[in-house]
Amino acid sequence: MRSIRKREHIENYLKTTFQGDTLLGDVFLEHNALPDLNLDEIDTTLEFEGKKINFPLLINAMTGGSSLTMEINRDLSTLARDFKIPMAVGSQTIAIKDDEDAIDSFKIVREIIGDEGVVISNLSGQASVEQAKQAIDMIDADAIQIHLNPAQELVMEEGDREFRGIINNIEAIVKAVDKPVIVKEIGFGISEDVAKRLYNIGVRYIDISGFGGTNFVEIENLRNQAFDFTELYSWGIPTAASLINCRKLPKDLKLISSGGIRNSMDIVRSIALGAEITGISGELLSYVIHGGYLNAKDYLDNIIHKVKILMLLLGKKNIEQLKNTDYKITGRLKDLV
Ligand SMILES: Cc1cc2nc3c(=O)[nH]c(=O)nc-3n(C[C@H](O)[C@H](O)[C@H](O)COP(=O)(O)O)c2cc1C
Repeated sequence: MRSIRKREHIENYLKTTFQGDTLLGDVFLEHNALPDLNLDEIDTTLEFEGKKINFPLLINAMTGGSSLTMEINRDLSTLARDFKIPMAVGSQTIAIKDDEDAIDSFKIVREIIGDEGVVISNLSGQASVEQAKQAIDMIDADAIQIHLNPAQELVMEEGDREFRGIINNIEAIVKAVDKPVIVKEIGFGISEDVAKRLYNIGVRYIDISGFGGTNFVEIENLRNQAFDFTELYSWGIPTAASLINCRKLPKDLKLISSGGIRNSMDIVRSIALGAEITGISGELLSYVIHGGYLNAKDYLDNIIHKVKILMLLLGKKNIEQLKNTDYKITGRLKDLV
């Protein structure tokens, strides 16, 4: 069942047409006509989860658990290795609960990326401490993502309807595992209040995964025979609003910006707003599915080149300096932060 659902998510993702807005376009960054820098001095490297990476972009959780997803994970992890960027696997519940054969489709990610790279586990907020430990061991993960997805579950006909106790569950995982725990949404954003509650139980990494990219209300609606949820397609906190509001918490809360990250401007704006790193899922998946590794490689090469250009145009030599970029908030975003 889970394996079929995972396949349908990918197929339905490709069928989605609703275009949400991250509101990252409402973030204005000022042009610097006199940057005292050369392009080849721009340094996009940084440290993430104790390892050096080449660029502030994470291939975010998507898949695993079947032969199709094994092929996709092969391409994604080859990209992560070649670009020296982190990768999170899709939910490992399938390999823990349902189907031991699915384990290989996750293990391949660590095998390809090797010990030098950053690989991140993924489970839902319903996971037990034991399952979290198993997921980490399965791929020798550097960190674990715990996803929160109530909107998706409620639109999914066979989805969960009970959400009590998830925060206690996460607290137990944070206390018991010896790797960083990243709590993430899946495209509807994290509010300042939710971030505070997570911070108070010891969470120090949040992937805000906001609205404006992959839309799981639409993806699930395409598989739901019982209800039509079209009117909920605009539900969610736009990525830029979620990021700015969560950034009001203390600086030792590290933020990952994802949800609708598609191009160099999205990445540069996210880092200027205070994200440690950005995450990409749907857009990269499209490039992999429509043209394989080489197509996706061209796409990433392009983004990295343009991020370097933008850093130069802001007069920022490295990612630390880019984090300290002044910005102005315009348009609708002003009302939401
Ligand atoms: C096909 C597909 C499968 C996904 N599966 C998972 C998953 O298993 N676990 C998870 O935390 N997020 C999952 N996500 C959500 C992404 O990690 C991300 O939070 C979301 O897609 C928003 O980013 P995007 O707009 O760049 O796609 C999935 C996304 C896609 C497109």
